[in-house]
Amino acid sequence: MIEIDCGLKSRIIAAGQAHLLRYFNELDEAGKRKLTEQLAEINWENIPVLAKDYVLKRPETAIPADLAPADYYRLQGNEELFARAEAKGRELLRQGKVCCLTVAGGQGTRLGFDAPKGTYPIGPVSDRSLFEYFGSSILRMSEKYGAKIPWYIMTSPINREATEKFFREKKFFGLDEADVFFFTQGTMPAFGLDGKLLLSARDSLALSPDGHGGTLLALRRSGALDKMVKDGTEIVSYFQVDNPLVEVVSPRFAGLLALENSEVGAIVLSKTGPYEKLGNFCISSGRTQIIEYSDLPDELAEKRNADGSLQYSAGSPAIHVFSRKFIEGLTSGNSLQLPWHRADKKIPVLDGNGNTFTPAEPNGVKLESFIFDALPMAEKVLLLEGNRAELFAPTKNLTGVDSVESCRKMISERNAGRLAAAGVAIPRGADGSLNAEIEIDPRSVCDDEDAVILVKKSGLKAIEPGAKVVLE
Ligand code: UTP
Repeated sequence: MIEIDCGLKSRIIAAGQAHLLRYFNELDEAGKRKLTEQLAEINWENIPVLAKDYVLKRPETAIPADLAPADYYRLQGNEELFARAEAKGRELLRQGKVCCLTVAGGQGTRLGFDAPKGTYPIGPVSDRSLFEYFGSSILRMSEKYGAKIPWYIMTSPINREATEKFFREKKFFGLDEADVFFFTQGTMPAFGLDGKLLLSARDSLALSPDGHGGTLLALRRSGALDKMVKDGTEIVSYFQVDNPLVEVVSPRFAGLLALENSEVGAIVLSKTGPYEKLGNFCISSGRTQIIEYSDLPDELAEKRNADGSLQYSAGSPAIHVFSRKFIEGLTSGNSLQLPWHRADKKIPVLDGNGNTFTPAEPNGVKLESFIFDALPMAEKVLLLEGNRAELFAPTKNLTGVDSVESCRKMISERNAGRLAAAGVAIPRGADGSLNAEIEIDPRSVCDDEDAVILVKKSGLKAIEPGAKVVLE
């Protein structure tokens, strides 16, 4: 019969969390085992500290007195440098020194889709999934550069199995299974607003993924970093699962990281307004950091240069490159403590009768760490401006801003732009809006060059008004 270890029990009690054992004696053996395993994973000494600092009071992000906007390489005026960077990036790809990393452990609550977000059918015309966009693109790039591009995919304990199943069903989108490496991020227990940890069932804590900041340590703990060393991977191209427009590897971005010998790089988008919901790249004490949009004081967000442009104009679309060595250094010793960020959520919990229900209002706190909090740990950070229309179509909601709807439009627009540049006539309304839905198979087109090849091969001259096309 399973009994809870005395040492563990006293640590739980000392942390003020004895209520978690309330149903323990009523559980069957499997339930007891499950709960004991979860409880054994928790750092109990830390729980009262987290409750005090993040739950019982609202943590405030301190704005350093010397905070200044970060400078970055602008799209215009650096043509010669970019040409060298692109050549370097292509060389690194040919040498097989670049891998992709997709973070796909989030719960996608805003999308309200009951499966891993990466399986969402985002194609504007076909039902091509987010994962297929990346997988096919990686396959095309690796074909083009004649070298492997290993793909690391971070899942959570909740969606790992369903994610792998999807990849098996889709035959890994033609990729070699050995080049796709799934790994699982850590979890954090959720707190009630009174600082007590929550049970989501009689035999389970309310656990949730520990944020995309969990990626770095999970890379170490899963053996992914060891595999990178074995494969000779030097640069890690990082992107989120909900942005199908991203270039899975940007030769310019990866090449510039290497040329500049930077430890980490971030793509910068010029913000559309002072309150656009993007993190802000800033400098303090000589280090680059991101201040979340919700934490940047209005007077700073509004601050303008003499020409009227925003001072804090550099926004983050969460696209990064990392040197492998930087991640190794950060996680040596098998630990990495990034700051926690608080989010108040509606967390399924037990009612007085021990049955699970989801409350109508936020009843608890989830703590997450964010990957961008690793930026200040680097001595040398590369900030490179990107063209929004070419690389950023976040899919957070079903409709409206940053939605499935807006993302599909942006994919069609991106494809229209590529086809137009290759000489194809594109149907547009009087207001310039695109009058067609255009999908291009990422298996055949991963960049502008490929689009030209596709147009030549197909002899395509024009897209018909109102057409819904998939070009392969
Ligand atoms: P979001 O912050 O948009 O969160 O994640 P989400 O969980 O996907 O969506 P909501 O907020 O519940 O609606 C941005 C990226 O970070 C990944 C997500 O999968 C997405 O690619 N992520 C987020 C993780 O991998 N792990 C996490 O713990 C959180």
